[in-house]
Amino acid sequence: MHKSIILALFAVAYANAQWTTAESTTMMGQSEGSTAPMWGTTVGPTSGPTPNCGCSPQNIWLDIFFAIDSSDAMTSGGLDSAMSYILSALARMTIGQQIGQYTRVGFIFYSANTTVQSDLRYFNSTDSLFDTFNNPSTYWQGDHGTNIEGAIKAATTLFDTNKGHRANTKRVLVILASSYTNGDYHDPIQAATTFKNDGGKIIAIEYVQVHGAQVPNLRDIASPGYFLSNSQQDLHVNDLIQLFCYANCFCTTNYLPYGNGGAYDVPMGGCYYAVTITSIERLTETTCFRDHLNGTLPVIEDVGKSNFINNLFASRSQYWIGLKRASTGSPWQWVDGSSMSYQSWGSGEPSSNGNCVMATIQSGFSVTWYAKDCTANDYMYACQTTPCSTDKYCTDTIS
Ligand SMILES: *[C@@H]1O[C@H](CO)[C@@H](O)[C@H](O)[C@H]1NC(C)=O
Ligand SMILES: *[C@@H]1O[C@H](CO)[C@@H](O)[C@H](O)[C@H]1NC(C)=O
Ligand SMILES: *[C@@H]1O[C@H](CO)[C@@H](O)[C@H](O)[C@H]1NC(C)=O
Repeated sequence: MHKSIILALFAVAYANAQWTTAESTTMMGQSEGSTAPMWGTTVGPTSGPTPNCGCSPQNIWLDIFFAIDSSDAMTSGGLDSAMSYILSALARMTIGQQIGQYTRVGFIFYSANTTVQSDLRYFNSTDSLFDTFNNPSTYWQGDHGTNIEGAIKAATTLFDTNKGHRANTKRVLVILASSYTNGDYHDPIQAATTFKNDGGKIIAIEYVQVHGAQVPNLRDIASPGYFLSNSQQDLHVNDLIQLFCYANCFCTTNYLPYGNGGAYDVPMGGCYYAVTITSIERLTETTCFRDHLNGTLPVIEDVGKSNFINNLFASRSQYWIGLKRASTGSPWQWVDGSSMSYQSWGSGEPSSNGNCVMATIQSGFSVTWYAKDCTANDYMYACQTTPCSTDKYCTDTIS
């Protein structure tokens, strides 16, 4: 109760901020005596077109490989506790092979060698996980060596070779390491970078045990912000679940994120797709909704967004924006219901030529708006939609 009041106050305090920063996340976490990212108060602009991605653990839909240190330094008991941590997180999610908001998981155990225990097609339910791993120490390899590079490459191959990975579902690799033996293997950084550049997220978990040393490089292997460690603070199951939710907040294939960034690299200002064939305004509304994940024409809150939308089109293009009025003399309103504050009218505009708005890219970056009849003119347009998330399942659309 106490905690939720503090969070609410925090949200109010930042209500007019552009968006909160990585620093505020960390400060917030520390003031509550935990390293947990505070989901729901720190991601996304507090005003703007896109509601924040939510975090409903049971609705997470990801394809996840776990690569787990199984070397002598991990110890068999250490592997047991590491698996309890991971299975505790998965117990709150929905594991299954169905299409939709289900998570698929696969397991790789690595020491000097990597052993693929299962690919993404094996586990049908949470119970099947518990049955298989009722005694995780049987998966302990126990030799001296930590071929993290081999584990990353094994996961990459399994994702790439149609072993149950669903198109449009985010790839996540969780590396749980207790030790690193330097020099014996190739540096894992290159394989990790390739995986991340292909759109995957790497969550690295450093599990320091009694007398154990920290694992060098693990933070660099992780996607920025996706590093957990028990070396300074307690590590809770919720910390991992929250990272899964951040990983589950993304723009699907071919949609460009606006305002990507923040501590967890989530699309803070929505996802955009440019349609470079013309239409009358009235039909853009149905096309954006039907074919672009319930999208709308874009809302232009400021010059930054205006420049972003411009860059989706060739220079001197003309395109519809999501600004309308009921009739000449009525107030202009954005499609999300907000009223017009930023504006970029051409001279003599808005005229009485119509109740929809076309934007023209002038030379350079400048854009001018013109009132146009909604059905008598055809222009190109972009569709704006909220990110895929635990609240929004994105089926395959454009491919
Ligand atoms: C790793 O795999 C190779 C080839 O399968 C095998 O010869 C070797 O004994 C394995 N090493 C360990 C430490 O298990
Ligand atoms: C899941 O179902 C498939 C197909 O019925 C089966 O081959 C597989 O063994 C099952 N997995 C588990 C862990 O029970
Ligand atoms: C789009 O909206 C419809 C209801 O109009 C809803 O059933 C559907 O799940 C939504 N699709 C997405 C991707 O959010």
